[in-house]
Amino acid sequence: MSHPSTPVLATASQAPGLDDVIAAETRLSHVDGVAGELILRGYHLQEMADWTFEEALALLWRDLTPEVLSAADIKHALGAARGRAFALMQPLLSALSGLSPVEALRLLLAALPDEETTAHPVLAVAAVPVFAAAIARGGQGLSPVEPDAALSQAEDFLRMLKGAQAEPDKVKALDTYLVTVADHGLNASTFTARVIASTKAGLFSSVVGALCALKGPLHGGAPGPVLDMLDAIGDASRIESWLSDALARGERLMGFGHRIYRVRDPRADVLKGAVARLKDGNGRIRFAEQVETAALALLQEKKPLRPLQTNVEFYTALVLEAVGFPRDSFTNVFAAGRMAGWTAHVLEQEQTGRLIRPQSRYVGPMPKAKA
Ligand code: ACO
Repeated sequence: MSHPSTPVLATASQAPGLDDVIAAETRLSHVDGVAGELILRGYHLQEMADWTFEEALALLWRDLTPEVLSAADIKHALGAARGRAFALMQPLLSALSGLSPVEALRLLLAALPDEETTAHPVLAVAAVPVFAAAIARGGQGLSPVEPDAALSQAEDFLRMLKGAQAEPDKVKALDTYLVTVADHGLNASTFTARVIASTKAGLFSSVVGALCALKGPLHGGAPGPVLDMLDAIGDASRIESWLSDALARGERLMGFGHRIYRVRDPRADVLKGAVARLKDGNGRIRFAEQVETAALALLQEKKPLRPLQTNVEFYTALVLEAVGFPRDSFTNVFAAGRMAGWTAHVLEQEQTGRLIRPQSRYVGPMPKAKA
């Protein structure tokens, strides 16, 4: 008996990672991997490099939240919601011991109530820095710092992390980072969020699923390993040999390559600029640039058929290190920015009302025909 035929546009064997399959329509962001462009609701990312995170949220949530929210409204609402998230977190803190930072964030986000917040993504966005800062401090044996509702999200994130007022250049760099990673087409975590949202499971279920997808090293787990790589190389004299040996062992160089971009990821230079503007950002950049140049040359030599360029994670690592996050928190900080996009996509998906349910092509054995 032949396999049942299924009416599919592209099969998984033609596109095993669903490359080039268009799985949703969105007004939120567009990634052009050939031109190296990221457009968010009509703006090139580069135009938004000086925006605050609240301004980016106002753009992404436009027409999606029940009420129109300006950046000032969002700042106010996030401030109040950070206080609420802090209170909700208290009874769960003792359950976090032994978990990695991203597992701890997953546990805390999973405890938030779906039905209450389906129409209010503010709590989802406000909660991540509160949780991530408390988790990072817990890892150093320190107690959580209560949020300050009067501050911006970026400023309060750093204050809750350090327990002291953040320097303005670091707040600016973190704002640029959060805006830069706020949304990026139908990446794996956003797709996950939309699939869950399409079942009407609710906002928090959708974003918890997204976080689970983000934590993998092929997606949002790369920037910590980028710093590990820079540290392991250690010295300019070892760059070539270290990278060649890693490639010879069949390892991937973290911070390089992308499913969509065939040219340089536009986010890389926005983040590089954010590090360069920091008072003490330049030393690390110079070494990173040397590693980047050598890595790109080696990748071109060893993988001539596949254009492999610098991706967002390479300079993410430098920004987040420079503003003071421990490297095992990097994925959680990524989630703090990407929560903007996840919530917007969940709201957009809910508006379509259509369950996402693709088909598979069965390639297993068929039952034996009855005699
Ligand atoms: N280092 C070395 N070789 C690489 C790299 C890399 N960073 N990336 C891809 N390649 C090679 C693969 O080994 C493969 O070679 P082969 O054909 O000889 O086997 C070829 O390039 C194609 O690789 P694919 O796996 O088909 O590429 P894909 O589109 O699936 O990969 C990915 C995208 C997962 C990001 C990949 O480039 C990678 O693993 N990069 C390193 C991890 C990283 O930086 N992740 C962050 C991505 S950005 C983000 O998600 C926010």
